[in-house]
Amino acid sequence: LGCLSLDPGFTSTSSCFSAITYIDGEKGELWYRGYAIQDLANNCTFLEVCYLLLYGELPSVVELERFENAVKNEMLIHMKLIDFYSSFQQGAHPMAIMVGVVGALSAFMHEDIDVMVAEQREAAAIRILAKFPMMAAVAYRTAYGLPIVFPKKKFGYTENFLYMMFSDPMADDFTVDPVVVNALEKIFILHADHEQNASTSTVRIAGSSLANPYACVAAGIASLWGPMHGGANEAVLAMLDEIKSRENVDTFIAKAKNPNDSFRLMGFGHRVYKNFDPRNQIMQDIAHEILTHLQCNQKNILELAQELENKALNDDYFIKRKLYPNVDFYSGIVLEAIGIPRDMFTVIFALARVIGWMSQWHEMMSESVKKIGRPRQLYVGAQKRNVQPREMRE
Ligand code: CMC
Repeated sequence: LGCLSLDPGFTSTSSCFSAITYIDGEKGELWYRGYAIQDLANNCTFLEVCYLLLYGELPSVVELERFENAVKNEMLIHMKLIDFYSSFQQGAHPMAIMVGVVGALSAFMHEDIDVMVAEQREAAAIRILAKFPMMAAVAYRTAYGLPIVFPKKKFGYTENFLYMMFSDPMADDFTVDPVVVNALEKIFILHADHEQNASTSTVRIAGSSLANPYACVAAGIASLWGPMHGGANEAVLAMLDEIKSRENVDTFIAKAKNPNDSFRLMGFGHRVYKNFDPRNQIMQDIAHEILTHLQCNQKNILELAQELENKALNDDYFIKRKLYPNVDFYSGIVLEAIGIPRDMFTVIFALARVIGWMSQWHEMMSESVKKIGRPRQLYVGAQKRNVQPREMRE
């Protein structure tokens, strides 16, 4: 076994070179292509950030317009794909539907992609970015037994998503709240990429065998679904419901600290950030802004979350282990205030992350030397032995 070393969870193994996202976990910094996340969230639209991640530079006015049109032209999904949704039982988790439907997209778009050609990879990235809002909205409408709504050219990317999610086909008009659009765009920007996290690494490994990119994205969605990754935003609200009120916070902190209890504070801790998660601070601001704007009764839950955060941040257990609230700690509160059902939270994360997955896949496929992802192992099983005749086995 000689030179093989063990690194479970890849805590100290770099799997690739990448020029897309930089994280300084000690300083709490996150950059996309050299731009700080705060700067991008305050000054750019989500599609500008998508362009930046995919092509490496922010777009000029002309480039952005061309990109937005290219996305708009690809927003519809094939009617046969819509038929596919009807085979899921009502009440199926929208993430389960997304794993299946995005995987099925590869059946519609396989022959026309040569993964070795850069322009075709970029076109594939635009196509899935464009179709994701409709795929996500149809997953929601299928899960809840609602009629399907098609995108409209007059709406922008995020407006179209809200329209397809929430419009009533019988209503004459649909008005989009610009404050809600702005909050959602920021959420999309914060989640758009995060270097070699579990789902991105899954997409890269799947893609390293030169597999169809849509099938690779389906693998990424499966990885994202888990509560230790993207599923944490849904789990945070379930946890806050369970805590119920401020008097119970101490009990739950004690539970999280108990080595014999598997309970963890959801939305807390990160593999890379060991000081603070810069996305969490932006998310907290969005939470205040949206709750004030919508004047909704989620304020109690925000106060409960803040109480939990304050107590944990002053507790030795969390200080010693450098556990801080991550991006998911407040995102669920914002999404719930906007009216997004809880089982759609991780779908929203996937919608935002799809450009990161495709940009990382494109970058990997652009390398001159392509190597299939193939980790090794340290074998700890039985030594070589012979098969005994069946009747002699105990
Ligand atoms: N609550 C209580 N204890 C925790 C928590 C937590 N949320 N997170 C880590 N710990 C403890 C853990 O028990 C361990 O303690 P000890 O050293 O005594 O055994 C120590 O901290 C190190 O934990 P780890 O599991 O080895 O750390 P990791 O880097 O492998 O895991 C993590 C990172 C995010 C999976 C983990 O912190 C966690 O499970 N957090 C809760 C789920 C969550 O919020 N996930 C969203 C991550 S951010 C969004 C995304 O990227 O998807």
